Amino acid sequence: AFYPVILAGGSGERFWPLSRKSKPKQFLTLDDSGLSLIQSTVKRLTELDLGLPEEAGSAYDRLMIVTGVDHRIQVLEQLPDLPVENLLVEPVGRDTAPAVLFAALRIAQSDPDAVMGVFPSDNRIDQPEVFGKVMQQAIALAAEQDVLVTLGITPTFPSTGYGYIERAERLSGPLWETAEFPAYHVQRFAEKPDAATATEFLQTGRYSWNSGMFIWKVKTILAAFKRYQPVLFEAMQAATTQRGGVRVAYPALQKISVDYAILEKAQNVVVIPAEFGWDDLGDWNALERLLRGQGENVSVGRHVGIDTGGTILYTTNGDDLIATIGLEDVVVVRTAEVTLVVRKDRTQDIKKVVQQLKENV
Ligand code: GDD
Ligand code: MG
Repeated sequence: AFYPVILAGGSGERFWPLSRKSKPKQFLTLDDSGLSLIQSTVKRLTELDLGLPEEAGSAYDRLMIVTGVDHRIQVLEQLPDLPVENLLVEPVGRDTAPAVLFAALRIAQSDPDAVMGVFPSDNRIDQPEVFGKVMQQAIALAAEQDVLVTLGITPTFPSTGYGYIERAERLSGPLWETAEFPAYHVQRFAEKPDAATATEFLQTGRYSWNSGMFIWKVKTILAAFKRYQPVLFEAMQAATTQRGGVRVAYPALQKISVDYAILEKAQNVVVIPAEFGWDDLGDWNALERLLRGQGENVSVGRHVGIDTGGTILYTTNGDDLIATIGLEDVVVVRTAEVTLVVRKDRTQDIKKVVQQLKENV
C-alpha cells in the first residue's frame, strides 16, 4: 500500500514575523483558499487519483504527519479527520532525516512492503491532475525497483535555497522507455549550493531543483539509512521499539536533513522531471508569485504607494495602512507586534534576525 507522509515540523523562519514559534508557516493561510498550507497539502494528497487498487477505509487511514510536540494540538485542530495514531510526534526538531526515518520505521512495523511518499507541508501545486499522473508513475517505479525517486522541477534562477539534481541517462526497460514522464538515473544530488555553483549548474541545462517530495519503498529507504547513517539508524530503531523510547532518544540525535544525510550519498537516486505548477512557499518573495497579476505591487491589507514599484506589503490587520513613497523592491510586513522592512534580495537573511532575537531572550 502507499503511505503519504507529511513533514510538518519546520519553523518557517523565513516567513517571520508572520510565522512565529507558536505558529509556524505550515499552519498559516497565505492565499484566498481559506486553507492553511498543511490543510491544502492534505486535501491534495487525500483527493489525489493515484490509480491504485481500491483499498478499504478512508484516504486518511494511511496518511501520516510528523510534527513537533509544540504543534501537536494545532495539527489535530486543523485536521480533524486525521486518526490520532497517524500523528508522529517529535519531542524536539532534528530536521528531516530523523523525521523520515521515524515514519519509515513506524510504517514498516505493520506493512514492511509499503511504498511511502514524503511531502513537505509548505509547497503549492497549481496543476493537481498532472501531479497525480506523475505520482502514479513515481509509485509504480518505486514499487518495481529499489530506487529513491525524486521529483525534479525546472530551475528558473540560481537559487541557493534548493537542492539540485543532475540527470544522467534515461531509465531503460519497456515500461520506462515509453513512460509519459521519463525517469533518469541521477549523477549527482547537491543540496543548497553557493550562488556560483548554482549558476554553473543552471548553465549546463542538466539540473532540476529538488521539489522535496520523495517516493520509495520503506525497505529501500531503511537500507539507505542503515548504510549511510548507521548511528542514526540504530538509535532510532532502538527508540521506536521501546515504549517512550522516542522521547528519550530524540534530543541526542544528529540534526540533519534527509537531503544531506541520504540523497547526496546514495547511488540509487532517480529523478522524474515534471512541471505541475510547483512553488516552494519558502520566503516572502513567494507571496508575489502567489498573488501574481495584482499589479505593480502586491499587498495584503491597505496600501497607498507613491512612486512605489515591485514591493510586497502585508498587514495582519486589514484596517492598518502602509504608505510608501519612492520605494523599489522592498518587503514590508506589519503585524500587531512587529514591523519588518527588508530588501527583496535579502529575505533569506530573515533567519538571522530570528536567530539574534533568540540569543537576546
Ligand atoms: N517533522 C519535522 N521535523 N518536519 C520538519 C523538520 C523537523 O525537524 N524540519 C523541517 N521539517 C519540514 C518542514 O516543515 C517542511 O515541510 C519540510 O520538512 C522541508 O523542510 P524545509 O526546512 O522547508 O526545507 P528547505 O525548504 O530548506 O529544503 C528542502 O526543500 C526544498 C524544496 O522546497 C530540501 O529538500 C531542498 O533540497 C528542496 O529543494
Ligand atoms: Mg521549505
